[in-house]
Amino acid sequence: MAEDLKIPETSDRKALYEAVLPQIEALTTGESDLIANLANISAALKEVLGFFWIGFYRVEGKELILGPFQGPVACTRIAYGKGVCGAAWKEKRIIIVPDVDAFPGHIACSSASKSEIVLPVYKNGEVAWILDIDSDILNDFDSLDEKYLSLLIKHAEKLI
Ligand code: SME
Repeated sequence: MAEDLKIPETSDRKALYEAVLPQIEALTTGESDLIANLANISAALKEVLGFFWIGFYRVEGKELILGPFQGPVACTRIAYGKGVCGAAWKEKRIIIVPDVDAFPGHIACSSASKSEIVLPVYKNGEVAWILDIDSDILNDFDSLDEKYLSLLIKHAEKLI
């Protein structure tokens, strides 16, 4: 496909997810390079949804290491169980944080980040990557984001 995204002229997040997900699938299916795919997934989400920070962390031993992302520079390494990302890895669950200041142990890579959603990406039943999305708006994520980002993760799991 052409390397430009078709973005509907709407601020309706459901419509934006429904527009971008098939385009992400088309962009990444058939490409075997994981880093290239995760980079394009981050870029497509950022371009269409416009969140403050979108990116992936890779599980490497006992820590997470920063992978492809879009947004300001971020923490490079996160220990197992630490922060929202480390907690999602340890607890193997999606975590939505409406107010990062109220999350014990939240790692503030930027003071502009106000709310966050973190989703584990699995390989052979183990967490292999973490998708982290930060918003500069309080309480910006809900079950709609969880639903569509889970679909995205299912696709990403076929790539890794
Ligand atoms: N806030 C995350 C750290 C990663 S940055 O937000 C990009 C956390 O608490 O794990």
